[in-house]
Amino acid sequence: MSAELISGTRIAEGIRQELAGRIGQLKAKGVTPGLVMVRVGEDPASVSYVSGKSKTSAELGIYSETQVYPENAGEKELLGRIAELNSNLRFHGILVQLPLPNHISEDKVLNAIDPLKDVDGFHPVNVGRMLIGEPYFLPCTPHGVQELLMRSGNSPEGKHVVICGRSNLVGKPLMAILVQKKAGANATVTICHTGTKNMAQITRQADILVAAMGSPKVITADMVKEGAVVIDVGVNRIPDATKKTGFRLVGDVDFDAVKEKAKAITPVPGGVGPMTVTMLMVNTVRAAEMRLAAQRQA
Ligand code: GUN
Repeated sequence: MSAELISGTRIAEGIRQELAGRIGQLKAKGVTPGLVMVRVGEDPASVSYVSGKSKTSAELGIYSETQVYPENAGEKELLGRIAELNSNLRFHGILVQLPLPNHISEDKVLNAIDPLKDVDGFHPVNVGRMLIGEPYFLPCTPHGVQELLMRSGNSPEGKHVVICGRSNLVGKPLMAILVQKKAGANATVTICHTGTKNMAQITRQADILVAAMGSPKVITADMVKEGAVVIDVGVNRIPDATKKTGFRLVGDVDFDAVKEKAKAITPVPGGVGPMTVTMLMVNTVRAAEMRLAAQRQA
């Protein structure tokens, strides 16, 4: 039996339609949500991600600007720019695309962003608030995974979720989100990582298996329980001479084999990717709504 496909493209579209109503309400009050994206250097994946975010902003009526710095930009210059953006009222959200070049400290840069404008949810204040279950903003990719599960009828509540990968971008925050005693969460969560022994033995216990390791096709069919829900966060570029670009995208899951065992599975592309961009839009609108509410209280 072949698994049901969980379409992130379709689910993201539904969320964007809901968001259009909220943006309309903000505009009626004279507020256009604003997002500024900072990119350093010309990493092809970063260029593509940022232009996707910019295009989606425009489609939704969110004002966006992309500020590009050369690869050799200095850390001080970047920190100065972030200080300016923190006080620029035109922008409700600030996103610094990662990874940054090695000579710039990602920690210093992320710590410099005003937590109330941190639409990526990477500032330590926001990481802490997420962990205690009182978030301003949830990080976009793990929040997108939670929405994909809920909106595809695969609630994580009471389920054993096994996450492969412990990154600060995906694995660790997804654990913090799904373990909360809240609707849409309340799962038993296990994290596997490069130090895990007998990973297949653990992944086979998953009702919901999330692959976020960043290696192509490492989740094979023998690692998946019959009837599991499989979410593939991986985006790996592998050479493909038949493509104009010279590469194609594959996930961390061996899709063709795993789809014969799973109950439901996300494709790559068209699964988690469109959700990440959409949750960034959700956070930008939330930032604008929070500022408006604070102004009305003042
Ligand atoms: N690089 C890869 N994913 C992300 C993301 O979600 N946000 C930012 N800022 N950079 C990234």
